[in-house]
Amino acid sequence: MLVDPFNRVIDYIRVSVTSRCNFRCLYCMPNTPFEWEPKENVLSYEEMFEFLRLAIDEGIKKIRLTGGEPLVRKDLDKFVKMLHDYKPELDLALTTNGYYLKKYAKKLRDAGLKRVNISLDSLKKDVAKKIAQRDCLDNVLEGIDEAIKVGFRVKLNTVVMRGINDNEILDLLEFAKNKGVQIRFIEFMENERAYPGIKRVDSKEVLEKIGSRYSFKELPKKNEASKNFVLDDGSVFGIIEPHNEEFCKSCNRIRLTAEGYLIPCLFFTESYNIKEAIREGNIQKAAEILRDVVKNKPEKNDWQEEKISDRAFWETGG
Ligand code: GTP
Ligand code: 5AD
Ligand code: SF4
Repeated sequence: MLVDPFNRVIDYIRVSVTSRCNFRCLYCMPNTPFEWEPKENVLSYEEMFEFLRLAIDEGIKKIRLTGGEPLVRKDLDKFVKMLHDYKPELDLALTTNGYYLKKYAKKLRDAGLKRVNISLDSLKKDVAKKIAQRDCLDNVLEGIDEAIKVGFRVKLNTVVMRGINDNEILDLLEFAKNKGVQIRFIEFMENERAYPGIKRVDSKEVLEKIGSRYSFKELPKKNEASKNFVLDDGSVFGIIEPHNEEFCKSCNRIRLTAEGYLIPCLFFTESYNIKEAIREGNIQKAAEILRDVVKNKPEKNDWQEEKISDRAFWETGG
């Protein structure tokens, strides 16, 4: 079992299979050029699998494939199948912008993927286009329907932004209720790359808005990033509030990037890389790096301080 110095059990790894994305969301990487990663810098699926097998043996129970946009990397279903075949009871999930989901949902489901979280920031074509800098809404909505149809457990993610989509909270909630899926409203995490005009809306305000139409009760906290609530009709929605002092107490995750960096927290400047160890076939060394990362997981992130310029921000959307 992997336990960090603050007694948090680390059983969840987010794996970014590519840092590339077909969107340019304002809150994520609005100005990043569209470039190819040099192939030799990126771990192959076999290399990632080598490492993840080790991580699973050490106690990882949940693997979430992320990006960039994970579906822009070829053959993701084959990677899913490798992981699923190794341990069918793994909680195997994907986070996607939904654009290519219609095309790949069935293949991924057949390969053993269980859950899909899909970004949905607006139900208005022009607003969705403004946020993602790509005309995307029709594809995303089709992707959501397909994911439900093939039997995934689906969640929707909405980053709430002042003056952009904060007037759609109730419509988005209604949409999710009608589809029978959970939506989570996320506080924008300030970062250096984001469009400077983006202002976050605190979850407290989101809850007030929802309270103006519905009554709801908080559900007991599980080991996940969101705080969840149930409406009178039984539908569940959530909020994700990384600015809350309590947020990091239940953090159970580490992340692996496509280039082999193993990262203990979203904001963390010291880097560990497992690529060399894996390429040399030195599993012992890779295991040591994994344990070091867990040992060095910081107690909390420092979004609270809002000084974003001199920090690393590892998350590329996923
Ligand atoms: P579930 O497994 O369904 O609970 O998904 P998840 O919430 O772990 O993953 P998802 O990819 O849907 O991420 C939702 C939001 O949580 C995104 O805004 C992420 O950037 C954010 N998030 C994920 N991991 C972390 C983390 O370690 N720290 C912080 N601060 N935010 C995170
Ligand atoms: N702040 C909050 N959420 C973000 N996401 C991407 N960048 C940010 C950010 N700066 C969200 C995406 C996706 C999820 C994985 O992370 O919308 O749903
Ligand atoms: Fe792409 Fe996701 Fe970042 Fe948007 S948030 S640019 S979809 S990685």
